[in-house]
Amino acid sequence: MKNKKRRREQPRPTIHPRNKYSENPPDFALLASLYPSFSPFVFYGRDGRPRIDWTDFGATRELTRVLLLHDHGLDWWIPDGQLCPTVPNRSNYIHWIEDLLSSEIIPKINNNADNIRGFDIGTGANCIYPLLGASLLGWAFVGSDVTDVALEWAERNVKTNPKISDLIEIRKVDTCMDAVLGEDSSEDLLCNGSKTNPSNGLGRESAPISSYTRDDAVEENSYSGPPILFGVVRDGETFDFCMCNPPFFESMEEAGLNPKTSCGGTSQEMVCPGGEKAFITRIIEDSVRLKQSFRWYTSMVGRKSNLKSLIAKLREVGVTIVKTTEFVQGQTCRWGIAWSFVPPARKIVSPYLAEKSNLSFMLEGLQRQFGAIHVLQSIESFFREAGASCKLNVHSFSVDITASNDHVKGILRNKVALLEESVGGDCEEEPPSCSDTMPCPSDDLSFCIIVFQQIPGTLLVKGSLQRKDGLLSGAFPSIFQRLEEVLKQKFCREKASVAIS
Ligand SMILES: C[S@@+](CC[C@H](N)C(=O)[O-])C[C@H]1O[C@@H](n2cnc3c(N)ncnc32)[C@H](O)[C@@H]1O
Repeated sequence: MKNKKRRREQPRPTIHPRNKYSENPPDFALLASLYPSFSPFVFYGRDGRPRIDWTDFGATRELTRVLLLHDHGLDWWIPDGQLCPTVPNRSNYIHWIEDLLSSEIIPKINNNADNIRGFDIGTGANCIYPLLGASLLGWAFVGSDVTDVALEWAERNVKTNPKISDLIEIRKVDTCMDAVLGEDSSEDLLCNGSKTNPSNGLGRESAPISSYTRDDAVEENSYSGPPILFGVVRDGETFDFCMCNPPFFESMEEAGLNPKTSCGGTSQEMVCPGGEKAFITRIIEDSVRLKQSFRWYTSMVGRKSNLKSLIAKLREVGVTIVKTTEFVQGQTCRWGIAWSFVPPARKIVSPYLAEKSNLSFMLEGLQRQFGAIHVLQSIESFFREAGASCKLNVHSFSVDITASNDHVKGILRNKVALLEESVGGDCEEEPPSCSDTMPCPSDDLSFCIIVFQQIPGTLLVKGSLQRKDGLLSGAFPSIFQRLEEVLKQKFCREKASVAIS
């Protein structure tokens, strides 16, 4: 009973509360009974629950098709191998943008709030964001892409849905790099044939387009592909937001494709030289030029380490606000990043301040023989050895931990010993202890550690404090840091060799 209560109180990451699926996840049995084309993909496990094989592209595509039809009234299809979106997950991003737009921290560009207009960078054959944004919220969209197959199928997916087709324009990104990166660019000719007008009153930076040179483009890890926003957004156009699910990976090997799911994805969809960091950095550079043509610039980010450097880049270019969020879907975790050049309507308090009750770190370069389950078991034994009580849940890849004052001391005392061994007597903070004037805390330190699979060889470890105001809560960051050291030492190739040498 006590355990049940604790589990309910746990601040678990959830899908957006306005997401259609937050209370009612897709009901495979119902969908199979209504849609005969879906039923061959549904089977029943020993527990009697209906399932699909997530490694079968046909099954994931058919699920997306029936969800879009059943829940959104949309007629949708993509050819074999194209990236297949999961509807609940993509809806989270749409609802987050809805939150940003309604927050009014950043004043509206146009006063007609009913006419929200967004720009989906790389809409893909699936055209998922414009379809969801238009059908759920009546937003208008420009969806851009570079590949013929994406443009052709995005068009089809718009045209087969006449009730929203007027709201969505599919725009081809001209890959004529010479027009954008060429030497003779004194006329600021945009790729779509229009010319920039420095006096259009939109706050655009009128830096000459020739400030992007081929030399810049071939710099290591910098983006060298077709235009993204600058050169695609037309002169005088304004948008409430842009969004992007960027090509995350630097190579198809890195994409590696999660063996537990098959969502398709061609190299054009998944890969870009320099990976997502280079792609999003270019969006940031474009935003510096387009400034207030957009109220919010946003993108999805696949790696937490990239999120940090992108935030640093945004600080450098002088944005007025940065916001981040987390998108959690099963064992996958992604981030959303948003920024603006519009002066905020009200004072913002510490926009970069991290939520102290939620901490995380990445385990990158995992040795081949180790997976999430080994890390999870190690987390459990790490705390159990210190005497803390642990409850491991292999389904949610989480461990619930409750540690008393003595357990906390034990964990951190080990840390001091280890640091003394390796660096010769560095001081480490002591956990808060009971004093005569302070009542001994009856409430232990309770927290949850979850392990997420990111890409093959990379895991994300997240810790969430149950009670931020607990007397032992101040020790949580040190404990979490200690856990990070131990896990990196044990599981990561690079970290292990650094520690040994
Ligand atoms: C990861 S896919 C995202 C597709 C879809 N938005 C989704 O969420 O499933 C990335 C898309 O970006 C497109 N792309 C790559 N470079 C681009 C560029 N410079 N401008 C517009 N789209 C681009 C790719 O063709 C691909 O369709």
